[in-house]
Parts: sequence; structure tokens; C-alpha cells
Amino acid sequence: MRSLSGDLLLQRLGEQPDDKLHKRLYNAIRTSILDGSLPPSSRLPASRDLAQELSLSRNTVLTVYEQLLAEGYVLARQGSGTFVAETVPDSCLSTSSVPVGSDGQQRGIELSDRGAALLHHASASPKQWGAFIPGVPDVNAFPHPLFSKIQARISRRPTPQRLTYSNQGGSPELQHALVDYLRVARSVRCSPEQILITEGIHQAIDLVTRMLCNPGDDAWIEEPGYWGIRNILRMNALNICPLAVDEAGLVPPEQPTNPPRLIFVTPSHQYPLGSVMSLARRQRLLALARNAGGWIVEDDYDSEFRFSGQPIPALQGLEADAPVIYIGTFSKTLYPALRLGYVVLPQPLAQALKTAHAELYRGGHLLIQTALAEFIQQGHYTAHIRRMRLLYARRRAFLTHLIEQHLGKQALSEFNNNAGLHLILNLPDETDDVAIAAAASARGVLVRPLSRYYMLPSRRRGLLMGFACVPEEQMAAAFTQLLACIEAPEATP
Ligand SMILES: Cc1ncc(COP(=O)(O)O)c(C=O)c1O
Repeated sequence: MRSLSGDLLLQRLGEQPDDKLHKRLYNAIRTSILDGSLPPSSRLPASRDLAQELSLSRNTVLTVYEQLLAEGYVLARQGSGTFVAETVPDSCLSTSSVPVGSDGQQRGIELSDRGAALLHHASASPKQWGAFIPGVPDVNAFPHPLFSKIQARISRRPTPQRLTYSNQGGSPELQHALVDYLRVARSVRCSPEQILITEGIHQAIDLVTRMLCNPGDDAWIEEPGYWGIRNILRMNALNICPLAVDEAGLVPPEQPTNPPRLIFVTPSHQYPLGSVMSLARRQRLLALARNAGGWIVEDDYDSEFRFSGQPIPALQGLEADAPVIYIGTFSKTLYPALRLGYVVLPQPLAQALKTAHAELYRGGHLLIQTALAEFIQQGHYTAHIRRMRLLYARRRAFLTHLIEQHLGKQALSEFNNNAGLHLILNLPDETDDVAIAAAASARGVLVRPLSRYYMLPSRRRGLLMGFACVPEEQMAAAFTQLLACIEAPEATP
């Protein structure tokens, strides 16, 4: 039986019939890496298997693998095989115009260098539900009947204003509801005019980046950090500067060489490690952003979920007129497919970014935004969050216990501070966490490898394990499967 990558390469070999065999195979693999058909860290078939599948000599395959290895497209891991490199040499991206698609119809279409790079780094998981998918709330626990009742009533007699394009940053009712909620729950200071409703944090970051940065501007991000931000910054041609994170959050350089235009942080719950940014670090970053004339982008993605102690107030509210663009989302508190989030814009930016949002995205979904405003104002939102906090705290405790029991306390991250929707399971430095995650996925268990959240070569190994959407009765069985993969990632189920 042929493998998926074997099928793809066979098709691509046929697309260039006139060249020498080894050249055709080299081109087929290189193109597949550049356009993302063979994604970063995916494993290439063993040379013997590929030779058999493609009816080539093994020497031809070995020669091509060696060439790709020498050029940095692939990495060889002792005992586990040949893998697509995580970062393709930039020179390759800028000199190639990449034909996309594996079917003849799409041939001739060329991606931009940025488009090819985006596909190369694409990281969204095709599977979005199941143990232990990180960052996903229990979408079944949302009060769907109640919300649909509110929605149905609002939709029965809609006003024209709710059925036409949005151009003032979203539903005014939702903007008002958020001002009250954010003041009480997150210590955010703002007025309704400062609020822009977006289709989630991704869209908010794209808008902010496009409107405030020129290609080549410096953007500081956390290392490790959220892959989604990196992809948006790459797409907008920023100079991404990954900065290490410690127990007090992002560590800024003593004397920055270039003033950063944007500083992306997750101060209340660092993603993915979990540390909380100290007051001293917050003040330092604020001073730094003010001096540089730049902006801090505060990604407050899951701060509602702290299971002990007081909530951590947002950085935005620490000083009046702070140079902070605060971004939040309903993806974690309600459900991701709602695709609703919000930006609290500093006064001087508010009108410009709302106008830009209307120009770029032609916002809508005003009926659902109005329904959500009512859901918040009637107290259902905070009640749902309270219920989920109790549920997720229990699930988190259950998973913590499983990890401690089977792998010991040291397997839990030192920044583990009883919050959020996922845990980090530490693995020894030499572990191949990508292979473990792939093996787990083959057994139906979804975890993400910690090493993939780093940009620089020095990276910690571990697994991100979501607990929020996994009932306790499913956890033990899924954990047993995962343990088998940690012990022997190469063993197929
Ligand atoms: C740190 C962080 N920011 C943002 C997001 C995405 O938010 P949204 O669904 O609103 O785009 C996620 C999702 O996992 C996240 O982990």
C-alpha cells in the first residue's frame, strides 16, 4: 500500500517528466515542503519504503535525502528517521515561486513568498475535539437553549441597523456590556467608543499589526509563545524578535538595540508556560513602550480561569492612558466557533482602527453580538464562567493527580499555577516531543509538542495537555494511551 506522501510525490514526479529521476524527486519533495503539503516536523517515508513505492532505486532516494539534508530542508534523527525541518532556509523561500496544489487544475498558480512561508509554518490542528486538545473549553456545557432563546427573540424583529454592515466597531449593546464586564472582571479602564468587536484575537492581531507597523519593524514576542501570532507577524513581514520568558514573564533586553514597535505579551497567564508577569516587569515594559513610541499588545486569552487566589488584573488598567492594546476573546469562555473577540483600543487609536476594520473586513454578525450583550447583561455570562471554573478546576486536579501518580511531581511545569485550560507535562531535554504527539494522535489522543512553540533552536520538550473539555471518566483511558506513546513513540498501535 502506498503512503500519503508517496502518493503526493508520485503525482509530482509525473508533473516534470523530462528531467533526470533524482532531480525530479528532489523537486517534488522540495516543492511539497515549501508549499506546506509536507508540513514542518512531518516524517518522510523510510528511504527503502519510498524507493519501493515510487519504483526507484534506494540509492536515488538516499542521494536526494542527503541533498535536502545538506540544504536544510530536512533533519535526520538518529533511530527515528528523516523529518521536514521546522524552519526552511529563507533564501529558499525568497528565490522560489511555488506552484501550489497537487492537482493539474491548480498548476500555474503561484504563491507569494509570504504565502508559501505561511503554509510552511501552518500549525492549526485538523482535529479540534477530544482528549487532551489544548485550549478548548467544554463546548457542550454552554447553555445553548438559553442563548438560542435570546437569539430567536432578537432575530424575530431585527432593525435594519442590525442587518447591514457594521462600521462603528460592532454592536453598541455589546460594547457597553463589555465595558462593565471588563472593569469588574479584569480591571480594564475604557469607554464603549474604545471597544472594537472582532472575529477573535487572530483578526485583532492582524488588524493592529497592519495598521501600526511597516514591513521590517521590530515586534517582540514571547519565547515560547503562541504560534498564531508568529504566523500573522510573518505574513505582515515584521521582524520577529523572540524573547525568553521566566517566572516573571517576558524578559526584555537591558538595552534594546532597536525600539520595538509592538510587544506581544500574555501577562496574566503566559502562553504556553503559565507564569504571571510581575508588577516590576509590567512597569518596565510600560516604560519601555512609552519611550519607544510603541505599543504593548496584551493577549488576555484565558484569564477568567484561575482556580485559586485572586484574579490577576490586566496590564491595561495599571496606569491611566497606558500604551496598551488589550485583546480578549469569547473562544475560551464560551466556544471557539462563535468567532467573537474584542479589542480595547487606546483613545488615540480608536477611530482609525475601527475605520480600518470596516474597510478591511466589512464586519457584521450584529444580531449575535446583540444577543451576546443581553446574555452578559442578564448575568448569564458570569454565571457560566463561574460554573466552568468549578468544572475545569476539578478536571485539572484530576489530570494533575494522574501525571503525579504516573510520572512524578517533576513532570509538572514549575510555572504551574492553577489556572487556564491546559497543563504542561515536562519531558527530558533529549525527548522527541513531536514524535510523541504524532504517535498519540495516531491513537486518537491530542496533545501538542512544547518544542513547536519556540522559534529559536534551544527549546524545552514537553506536551501541552488540555483538560477543560475532557470529562474525568475519559481522562484515565486517554492518559494510559499517552503513557504508552511516551514510553515508545515509534510503536504503532
Ligand atoms: C494565547 C492565545 N491567544 C489567542 C488565541 C486565539 O484566540 P481566538 O480564538 O480569539 O482567535 C489562542 C487560542 O488558542 C491562544 O492560545
